[in-house]
Amino acid sequence: MNLSNTPPLHIPVMLKEILSMFAPLNGRPELRYFDGTFGRGGHLQALMQAEPSIKAVAMDRDLDAIAYGKSHFSEVIEAGRLQLVHGNYTDFADFNLGEFDFMLLDLGVSSPQLDQGPRGFSFYHDGPLDMRMNQTEVLTAAEIIQSYSEEELIQLFMDLGEISRPQRVVRAIVHDRKEKPFVSTKDLAGLIERVDGWHRKGHHPATQYFLALRMEVNQELSGVEKALKPLVLGLKPKGRLAVLTFHSLEDRIVKNVFKSLEDLGRPVNKKVLQPEWSEAKVNSRARSAKLRVFERSDLENAVPEGSHYSKYRGY
Ligand SMILES: C[S@@+](CC[C@H](N)C(=O)[O-])C[C@H]1O[C@@H](n2cnc3c(N)ncnc32)[C@H](O)[C@@H]1O
Repeated sequence: MNLSNTPPLHIPVMLKEILSMFAPLNGRPELRYFDGTFGRGGHLQALMQAEPSIKAVAMDRDLDAIAYGKSHFSEVIEAGRLQLVHGNYTDFADFNLGEFDFMLLDLGVSSPQLDQGPRGFSFYHDGPLDMRMNQTEVLTAAEIIQSYSEEELIQLFMDLGEISRPQRVVRAIVHDRKEKPFVSTKDLAGLIERVDGWHRKGHHPATQYFLALRMEVNQELSGVEKALKPLVLGLKPKGRLAVLTFHSLEDRIVKNVFKSLEDLGRPVNKKVLQPEWSEAKVNSRARSAKLRVFERSDLENAVPEGSHYSKYRGY
C-alpha cells in the first residue's frame, strides 16, 4: 500500500495525543509496535508514517478487519514490516510475539462494524441481532435476548448500559419473546422505541441497550481487565502501553489496573487525557474518548522484589 495516500475508513481518535505519547520512543533501534485493535489500521498507518523503520504486529478479532488489512496493507506485509494476527488481545501472552516499545488498544467498535447492517451492531441498519466482533464465536445478542432471565437482563442493562430503569423494556421483551424470538436489530430497537419513547432529540432510546448487549456479547470489560498486565509485561524497558476507552466503566478498569501495576511502572499522566474540543466537534465518536498511558519502568535499574534496598526505593 501507499501509506500516505490511503484515507482511513475509520477516523482514528486522539491521533495527535497518541503520536505525542509515542514520540519519546521514536528513533529507538529495532522499534516494535503492537496494535491490539487494528480495525482499519488508522492509528497503525500514522505510526508507520511517523517512524518508517517501525516493525508492527497488529491484531483484531474481526475477520473483516484482518481481510481488509491483508489487502490494503499488502506492501508493508510483504516488506516484513507488518504481521497481521486474527485473535483476541486478551490472549496476547499465548501468541509469543516478543517484546514491544509501544502498544495501543483502541477499544470499542470500528465505524465499518457499526455501518454494516449484517453485523447487527446498529439500530439504524436492519440486520440480524448479532453483534459478534469475532464471527467465529457462538454467543450472539439474539441468544442473550432469548435466553437470559428477566433479572439477568435487568442487571445487564443497568450495569453495562447504565440505564436506571430498564424494567418496562425488559418485561416487554420477556413477554414478546414467548410469541416470537427477536431476530433483527429493528425488532428490538422498535420495541424499545415503543416502550421507552424518545427523551432526547438525536439520542435513540435503544442506544444504551445496544451498547450493553454489545459489551456482553464480546465480554469487553472482563477482556480489558484480564489483558492489561500481560500487555505491560510484554513492554520493553520504558516501553509504553496506550489505552483509549469510550465507556466510563472501561476507563475505571484501566485506571485501577494501572494503579495496581505500580511495581512494573507508572502511568505517564496523572490525569486522564481527553480529545480537544475541535476533534470532538468533527468526530462524534471521539466525544467520550479517554486516553491513559502506562510506562514500564527501566528494568535494568529496577530493584528485585524482596531485595533489602527495595523498601528504600519504594518497590
Ligand atoms: C475502534 S476500532 C480500532 C480502530 C483502529 N485503531 C483504526 O484506527 O482503524 C476497534 C477494533 O478492535 C477490535 N477489537 C475489539 N476488541 C478486541 C479484542 N479483545 N481483541 C482483538 N480485537 C478487538 C474490533 O474488532 C475493532 O476492529
